Amino acid sequence: MASRFLFLVCLAVTVFIALASDPSSLQDFCVADPTGSVPVNGHVCKDSKLVVAEDFFFSGLHLAGNTSNPAGSKVTPANVAQIPGLNTFGISLVRIDYAPWGINAPHTHPRATEILTVLEGSLQVGFVTSNPENRLISKVLQKGDVFVFPVGLPHFQHNVGTGNAVAIAALSSQNPGAITLANAVFGSKPDISAGVLAKAFQVDKSIVYNFQSKF
Ligand SMILES: *[C@@H]1O[C@H](CO)[C@@H](O)[C@H](O)[C@H]1NC(C)=O
Repeated sequence: MASRFLFLVCLAVTVFIALASDPSSLQDFCVADPTGSVPVNGHVCKDSKLVVAEDFFFSGLHLAGNTSNPAGSKVTPANVAQIPGLNTFGISLVRIDYAPWGINAPHTHPRATEILTVLEGSLQVGFVTSNPENRLISKVLQKGDVFVFPVGLPHFQHNVGTGNAVAIAALSSQNPGAITLANAVFGSKPDISAGVLAKAFQVDKSIVYNFQSKF
């Protein structure tokens, strides 16, 4: 009985470790070496004697992103690509700007849970749970409000205020990745065949071609 219990605990711990976002650190830091050519999960470490404050630094999140685009929003990332010192630490940030009625289109982060806080304006936000429920969990947020988007689930934000909106979001990966649903489905290279998409979306192929022409 006791050994079975122990086995279940070990299994639970193993599963937990296997499901954790980014691997945990085994040293003070492992600043990404952009010249490293060894293919590892993440980046190889720069010589710690050569590490400087700039490796842990990024300036620019005070600047509004340019929202003159069809979605009316702009994401400014601060992840391991901008801050090499984030390598192996499992976190990153973005600033998101929204023009009036702008959207951050439905997308997922394959490697991160996201926690978003509204700095200015009003946002309708939401995420959709997995099959078969596909339940929409949605809320209108005001300045100072915080909302969580669970890892992997499709989510969006919509500026429903009268002016610009600004949010800062933290993500549980140094490199969260993003899959914008419309682009992945209708803008893949090469195209997913129109026949497959027509069946999947239960529409005529001409509608699929129309969507594909936009991405
Ligand atoms: C914003 O982006 C638009 C579209 O790409 C461009 O025409 C415009 O010059 C940009 N504005 C600024 C201030 O960079």
